[in-house]
Amino acid sequence: MSKYYHITTYGCQMNVHESEKIAGILSSLGYENCDNIEDADIAVFNTCCIRENAENHAFGNIGMLKKLKAKKKGMIIAVGGCLTQQIGKADILHDKFPYVDIIFGTHNLGKLKEYVIKKQSQKKSVIEVLESEGEISENEKPLRTSYPNAWINITYGCNNFCTYCIVPYVRGRERSRKSEDIINEAKELISLGYKELTLLGQNVNSYANGTDDITFPELLKKIANLDGKFRLRFMTSHPKDFSEELAKVIAENPKICNAVHLPVQSGSDRILKAMNRRYTSADYLKKVEILKKYVPDCTITTDLIVGFPTESDEDFNDTLSLVKEVGFSSAFTFVYSKREGTVAAKMDGQIPEEVSKKRIMQLISLVNSQTREQSAEYVGKTIEILCEGYDDKKQMYLGRDEYGRMAYFYSDTDVVGEFLNVKIESASGISLTGTLV
Ligand code: SAH
Ligand code: SF4
Ligand code: F3S
Repeated sequence: MSKYYHITTYGCQMNVHESEKIAGILSSLGYENCDNIEDADIAVFNTCCIRENAENHAFGNIGMLKKLKAKKKGMIIAVGGCLTQQIGKADILHDKFPYVDIIFGTHNLGKLKEYVIKKQSQKKSVIEVLESEGEISENEKPLRTSYPNAWINITYGCNNFCTYCIVPYVRGRERSRKSEDIINEAKELISLGYKELTLLGQNVNSYANGTDDITFPELLKKIANLDGKFRLRFMTSHPKDFSEELAKVIAENPKICNAVHLPVQSGSDRILKAMNRRYTSADYLKKVEILKKYVPDCTITTDLIVGFPTESDEDFNDTLSLVKEVGFSSAFTFVYSKREGTVAAKMDGQIPEEVSKKRIMQLISLVNSQTREQSAEYVGKTIEILCEGYDDKKQMYLGRDEYGRMAYFYSDTDVVGEFLNVKIESASGISLTGTLV
């Protein structure tokens, strides 16, 4: 009889890819994927704690499984990811949800196989969260779910300690995979037919820092020089480490998409300093200028936080001005969320919720108006898209151009994974609609 697994993923691409590794581990134990958690023999929650709502979301969903577990006694519930890695959280989880069978952290994902086997033969929960990050493991074979895109880790962890951010505490110090392992993985993925490779790290620009391995721009160049038609993307770039050499490599290698995600967080120098971002708004604009000098058509997307402690109306207006000046093609906008254990959590001048709410609405409206304006410019143009999937609701295929803009279109045949030309007929918000040409 088949056994099924179900994975619920929260958080960033890093977690999405780690869920693919979890899927790989579970399938090596004979489990198959199922879409409905009620059919699962093992349900895994791969959690995130970047903001309070991410954490609450996971807590809520784990809580909802109590009834199912009471009906389905043999079901295994496992919780991993960044939330469990916070000091004391594993115990809180265990107290609150005693029916959870396995709790593991980000540093011991590879041991999940061992934990499942152990749990199958004992009544007691298996709880293990390691404090230290240990060596990078190359053993987990991901079961990929995002064809034609494939994620490739290049670094793990983060050394930057932005004062608002929990990531360095739950992901540990920055470690880089060997370039040889990364390039071999890229080669294999291309030979398997993947058409878009996305290199992942909290700060890809500092890849191999402090080791004698090649630099990030050199790594990009090597992958871009591999045979085959594919796109190469990377995220995330920290502005302080974004170099002229990188801009040149993007310009010189057509397989590297002319689209860079460069999180700025704020336009106020005072706030950037308090965030420990280690650049000013002028430094950021200079990086944008260098990038545009070499890659004039490059689109830039960003992350923005409003309501960081002590943020005044003036600081917020600086953010609005910077957003206008750079002309971001889109942006992820967040209300600052206090994270226990970070430096900013202890800062005076926490901003009232209603002030932050007002600011984020204003920011979203500005970002959306810029995105809409840029979308409108697409109408009448023919663009090359990589088809990523089929939208059941719209009953249309969808894909992106190299700049990351999403386009919908009809096709009689399955074209997922194909590069196609689409003539854009209309634009609404961030997405475009067109016909195959
Ligand atoms: N390493 C990446 C981002 C990782 S987290 C970088 O440095 O750019 C993704 C985004 O979440 C961040 O860019 C930031 O905008 C947001 N974020 C992180 N901590 C946050 C917090 N405490 N409150 C609100 N947003 C936060
Ligand atoms: Fe967090 Fe800053 Fe590291 Fe990004 S660079 S993960 S925001 S500490
Ligand atoms: Fe990612 Fe959330 Fe962890 S954003 S690194 S899954 S805290």
